[in-house]
Amino acid sequence: MQDKQPLLFDIHQENKDANVQELIQGLLCTQAILSPKYFYDELGSVLFDAITLLPEYYPTRTELQIFTHQASEIHAHFPKHATWIDLGAGSCQKAVSLFSSTMPATYVAVDISVEYLTNNLRDLQAKYAAVSVVGIGMDFSNSLTFPAALQEQLTANPILALYLGSSLGNFNPTEAFYFLQRIADLCKTGQPGSGLIIGIDLVKDVDTLERAYADDLGVTAAFNLNVLRRVNSLLGSDFDLLDWQHIARFNVQESRVEMHLQAKRNLVVNWQGHQRHFKKDETIHTENSYKWTVENFSSQLIKSGFSNIRHWTDTKSHYALFWAS
Ligand code: AVI
Repeated sequence: MQDKQPLLFDIHQENKDANVQELIQGLLCTQAILSPKYFYDELGSVLFDAITLLPEYYPTRTELQIFTHQASEIHAHFPKHATWIDLGAGSCQKAVSLFSSTMPATYVAVDISVEYLTNNLRDLQAKYAAVSVVGIGMDFSNSLTFPAALQEQLTANPILALYLGSSLGNFNPTEAFYFLQRIADLCKTGQPGSGLIIGIDLVKDVDTLERAYADDLGVTAAFNLNVLRRVNSLLGSDFDLLDWQHIARFNVQESRVEMHLQAKRNLVVNWQGHQRHFKKDETIHTENSYKWTVENFSSQLIKSGFSNIRHWTDTKSHYALFWAS
């Protein structure tokens, strides 16, 4: 008999022309910008995984500590026999480490690339035969419309949405509001007990924040610079990585760590008949990572349509896990 296989959907439509237009527009802005989505090619994803192991990058480790130290209280909120929707699942490791306390009926892993999910989900399905394992390749940042074939599973059981790793920080507060509102609406389509578990990086001293994004080994610098190789391959541009240096600084007013690439000298970058002059010290803004306080994130959840909020933090109050239903 054939082993049970995960159900896979690929509804992500990569629009290469739109990406090229977006890149050109960003590079021609007075303050040049690149969307952080371009970080995550094959090498970029490996570099990000390496970042999560760095001593300076506390969010991943701290999230895990909170789950471990406050397991029984946190798990008491998880609905039983639920459909788990793991947004930005990646290797699926974080969600799967929670299976031992509460086993889902269905596990839906969502990420931009279904190919990246496939092997992990096959292994997972073989290991957890009682769980229906589903993988969806989609860009969930703009829409949470799932394939029609999943509707029954979504409405028949409670839904547990998971958004871990403080990824919400890469949305600005307005984007975060609409994103959370879509999750609140999704939870309303599930049976009673549905809710969201989300990891949020908190405001703290500037030194800890900036060191998390400018580690001594230079892994975050490599992650940031790698985006220029990606741009060269997508646009045919001639960025020379040796001309640029990584910068990370906390913008107190906006409550975000900003990553930039700074020109080491006056230079010109060419692509497809365009060119951009950069003066020495001019920057390309590549990422924002917003940091929240417990109070302002709780009100953001309420504004977005959730009513029942709980949170847990680590002993230093560096990071928080929120439950919202
Ligand atoms: C994916 N995201 C939550 C990371 C962050 O902390 O904003 C991306 C990252 N950029 C540099 N280091 C980590």
